Amino acid sequence: MGYQVYLRSFADGDGDGWGDLAGLRARLEHLAWLGVDVVWISPLYPSPLRDGGYDVADYLDVDPRLGSLEELGALVSEAHALGLRILLDLVPNHTSSDHPWFMAARGDRDSPYRDHYVWRDPAPDGGPPNNWPAHFGGPAWTYDDASGQYWLHLFLPHQPDLNWQSPAVDEAFADILERWLAWGIDGVRIDVAHALVKHPDLPDLPPAPGQGDEVEVTGGSGVGVEREFERYAHVHDADQPGVTEIYRRWRAIADRHDALLLGEVYLLEPQRLRRYVADQDGLHLAFWFAPLHLEWSPAAVRAALREGLEEVGPWLSWPLASHDRPRSATALGGGDLGRARALCLATLVCGLPGLPMIYQGEELGLTDVPLPHEVRQDPIAVRGEPERARDPGRTPIPWEPGPGWGFTSADEPWLPIGDRRPEDTVAVQRGDLDSWLQRYRALLATRKGLHGSVADEPVDWLAPDGPIVAYRRGPVVVAANCGQQAATLTLDGRHRIVRFASARAREGQRVAEELPLEPHEAVVLGP
Ligand code: GLC
Repeated sequence: MGYQVYLRSFADGDGDGWGDLAGLRARLEHLAWLGVDVVWISPLYPSPLRDGGYDVADYLDVDPRLGSLEELGALVSEAHALGLRILLDLVPNHTSSDHPWFMAARGDRDSPYRDHYVWRDPAPDGGPPNNWPAHFGGPAWTYDDASGQYWLHLFLPHQPDLNWQSPAVDEAFADILERWLAWGIDGVRIDVAHALVKHPDLPDLPPAPGQGDEVEVTGGSGVGVEREFERYAHVHDADQPGVTEIYRRWRAIADRHDALLLGEVYLLEPQRLRRYVADQDGLHLAFWFAPLHLEWSPAAVRAALREGLEEVGPWLSWPLASHDRPRSATALGGGDLGRARALCLATLVCGLPGLPMIYQGEELGLTDVPLPHEVRQDPIAVRGEPERARDPGRTPIPWEPGPGWGFTSADEPWLPIGDRRPEDTVAVQRGDLDSWLQRYRALLATRKGLHGSVADEPVDWLAPDGPIVAYRRGPVVVAANCGQQAATLTLDGRHRIVRFASARAREGQRVAEELPLEPHEAVVLGP
């Protein structure tokens, strides 16, 4: 089971209002208790924080506000002692504009680092070299007065895209990966893994098919400010030939260290995603984001799960939410309805092949915090669309009731904790066997306990339609009523036991032919 730590909001160890490595170290035992195996830490490098740390100024160091290399080393040893593996977030598509490579490259056409980035002369009218939009709004090009050329940035101007046609960039990242893995890191989550390579001629993008109607985001990051971005078909700025070659080279490095490569390949078309994992000579796993984009209905849940598994393959990581999306309880209907649906989805993915990934706080059933616009820090807010900013899903974790909610001893955390209730906290939920936290823990324990009996078994979907989404995998049946009425699943008559149930009282029940499920009830049956 994977768990995403958004470090600045996880736990503050030194009392400055920012989550940090000291805070995470102090809470590692909690993650082990929950049943996590793999911890992915969002970027912790020195950064001017224009995009929450996804603007890296030094790939081989730790932001002093978050700790130090020494502290990260201590964290890795402690994590290993608890059976946890640590993944860092590698950001190879772009650096920060404060990175020494870019500082040297900007303004100097003869810099040895110039070719690390993508520069082009202005169009004949002096405007940007092509029509590419940036994810966070505006054109994907910014003019550099000093050198008279534009630089490319698929995200902010402060996040110049690296030029992956340059052998020096390729070598630099192979070295960065090698160094972290040799140092003791267990693998990486690769940011924007589909977009490193661009079409060498940088042609204009054509309009998206069906432009003006509902347009599916096919090459986006899922980050929210995608309206302008969605007007184009992203056929030249992402998912280009050659990108999987990079991961083939990285795989050789990862294999030497028994490390994991997990790609944020934000492609919602399964056939395109498949290319990144199907040969298993590059990425080990790629995220399948379709479940985070669905409009809730049993058919939509079933389709999103089946499509990933059947058309991409078993090499998926299943995010239950992320720092880029609204929290699942909020996205799936709000309050207890949203929480119950989120647990249905979590139960369903927990029995499938691949690596489910909890985003911190999902296990508490947290909802988004409705933050006033002026405190939002996401670049989407800064650039003028505060209502679409990602901050409401990034607020600090409430660990226990009281001032600072156990997150910080500072008067002001970096982002408001919001209107949490005591029953949202880890401390209160740990003491209540019916809490969301305890239900997630029971689910993770069930997943671990049954892993041996399902590992080599295919997934047989049981109910092709109707409110219950269900499958059998060897001796195990996983079922969730994703509809609005009670329903019954007819089974094969084999005796099974309810090993996990969203309603705890059902655990231990025997089931043979009929499995009645209330709306939003989820169960795992096993021998
Ligand atoms: C990824 C990250 C997102 C970030 C973007 C640019 O999509 O998950 O948070 O803004 O990349 O690095």
